Amino acid sequence: MLRELIYENRSYRSFDESMPVPKEKILNWIDNARLAPSASNRQPLKYKVLDQKGAEKVLPLTRWAAALPDFQLPPEGHHPTAFVVICHDTSVFPDSSASKVDLGIAAMTLLLSAVEDGYVGCCIGSFDAERVGEVLRIPERMEPVLMIALGAPSPDETIILAEAKKDGDTTYYRDKHNLHFVPKRKLEDIIIE
Ligand SMILES: Cc1cc2nc3c(=O)[nH]c(=O)nc-3n(C[C@H](O)[C@H](O)[C@H](O)COP(=O)(O)O)c2cc1C
Repeated sequence: MLRELIYENRSYRSFDESMPVPKEKILNWIDNARLAPSASNRQPLKYKVLDQKGAEKVLPLTRWAAALPDFQLPPEGHHPTAFVVICHDTSVFPDSSASKVDLGIAAMTLLLSAVEDGYVGCCIGSFDAERVGEVLRIPERMEPVLMIALGAPSPDETIILAEAKKDGDTTYYRDKHNLHFVPKRKLEDIIIE
C-alpha cells in the first residue's frame, strides 16, 4: 500500500478545476503532518490553506517546471484548486534553515495523505516569498518556506517513472504526446558500498 502511494505521489502540474479539494480534507492532511517528527520537537511549521480563489491569487507568484520552458504549466483551465503555504514561525525558533528537514517530512506526509484521498500535488519551492506573504497578509514572523499546489489530477497529465540516463542526467522531460518522464536513479547507484 505504502509503495503504491509512493509511486502515485508524482509532481502533478495539471489539475481538474471542476473538482476543488474540500478544505476539511486539507485540514486532515495537515493534521497528519502535525504528528510527523520535528527536530528537538520544536514544531515551528505553520500552514496557510488557500481555496480555489486564493490559489488563483498566488499562482502568478509561483514558477513551474523550469526544465520545460516550452510548456505552459499548469495549462490554462487546469490550475491547482488549492495551495498550502508552509511557513516557518520565527517566534518558535529564529532560524528558518533549522526546520528544513521538518519541512521535507511534513511536505511528504501531506502529499501522501492527499494521494491516499485521490488528490495530487506539487511542491513549489520557486516562488516570491515576500509577495506571497504580503498578498496573503501572513504575519511577518512567519516565513513562507514552501508552497504545495493541490488538486484532483487532470486526465491530460500522465507521469512515467524512468531510469536515470547512463551519464547520470536526471532532468525530467516530455515527449511529443505530452507524456511526462521522471528519471530516477537505480537502487544500486545510490547505495554506498
Ligand atoms: C523542495 C522541492 C521544491 C520544488 N519546487 C518546484 C517548483 O518550484 N516548481 C516545480 O514545477 N516543481 C518543483 N518541485 C517538483 C520537482 O521538480 C519534482 O519533485 C521532480 O521533478 C521529481 O518529480 P516527482 O516529484 O514526480 O518524482 C519541487 C520539489 C521539491 C521536493
